[in-house]
Amino acid sequence: MVDPRAYEAMAQPIVGIRDPYFLELMSEIQSGLRDVFGTRNENTFVVPAGGSGAMECAIANFVRPGSKFAIFAAGHFADRMTVMAKRQGANVVRLEKPWGEVFVAEEATAFLERERPEVIGFVQAETSTGAYQSGRAIAPAARKLGALVIADCVTSLGAMPVELDAVGIDVAFSCSQKGLSCPAGLSPISVSPKAWEWLEKRPEEPSSWYLDLRLMSKYFEAPHVYHHTPSPPLYYAMHQALAVIEEEGLKARWERHRQASERLITGLVRLGFEPLVKKPEDRIWHMTTVVPPSKVNEAKLRENLLTKYNIEVAGGLGQLTSKILRIGTMGPLATSESVDFLLDSLQASI
Ligand SMILES: Cc1ncc(COP(=O)(O)O)c(C=O)c1O
Repeated sequence: MVDPRAYEAMAQPIVGIRDPYFLELMSEIQSGLRDVFGTRNENTFVVPAGGSGAMECAIANFVRPGSKFAIFAAGHFADRMTVMAKRQGANVVRLEKPWGEVFVAEEATAFLERERPEVIGFVQAETSTGAYQSGRAIAPAARKLGALVIADCVTSLGAMPVELDAVGIDVAFSCSQKGLSCPAGLSPISVSPKAWEWLEKRPEEPSSWYLDLRLMSKYFEAPHVYHHTPSPPLYYAMHQALAVIEEEGLKARWERHRQASERLITGLVRLGFEPLVKKPEDRIWHMTTVVPPSKVNEAKLRENLLTKYNIEVAGGLGQLTSKILRIGTMGPLATSESVDFLLDSLQASI
């Protein structure tokens, strides 16, 4: 759900791309993003694309042709990273787990010490399974080997802990349409000083011109050299969404999402649904995945919710197609009222 203040902001007049007002707004967005990312990274800005564009940007810049890229794979979006890295000509190695599980430090360390990759990638909030992997079980071993750590924070940012600096993530990308409660189309990215230094020394240019971070970054710092034409309404929306987060307080917002998740899971279990992610501590708070009771047709259930109650719930992706429900309670939706409304509507629909 787009935050009402983000909606309102998008109706404001469009200014030019070097208008002092726009540049100030951009700088405030960068500062707000550092806060939600939990980082002091100077190079924190937005990629003019959706989450997959930001993923491709991270990979095109930091995964060189022929380099070894180790991916922790337990879901659809780790698979998407794999495909993108292969298109960059990387030597991709994967540690796989059943969808819905997360990696523990011992297996991550053994895998990385065996493979000794130059870069590693993992998904912090795997939207296809509902599993949350902070990165604490992975990043220390990767950094010990000198590998750069790339994290997909598309779903985690703004709704639950991301904490780049504390976890040890070098390159993080996200999106606008999930935890930040904005429309899609503008994707935050943050790069550590170590990774930026690596990028400055990269011997060849990245294969993509549009997603070349070194070129893109010049627009975000004085003298704001033109690289692409940004869309001001998307910036206005993000500016307001970040202000909303700052006013609520990031930790209070996380806690609101956590409480909504707890209430939702309790209600779902009462109705006979089974959480796909077994351990509560491994669950994404604002995107809940459940297996419906065996007598329930999930497609029919989702159709009923949409047509009778105007509630859109997603089905499974990839190998979980037709097997699970994926229920988002993000931003303004993470309240006991909306959770109770959903549970009542579900009960009436099964
Ligand atoms: C974890 C994750 N990564 C990447 C993406 C791709 O983002 P987009 O759909 O904005 O391209 C998504 C989208 O749901 C996602 O959940």
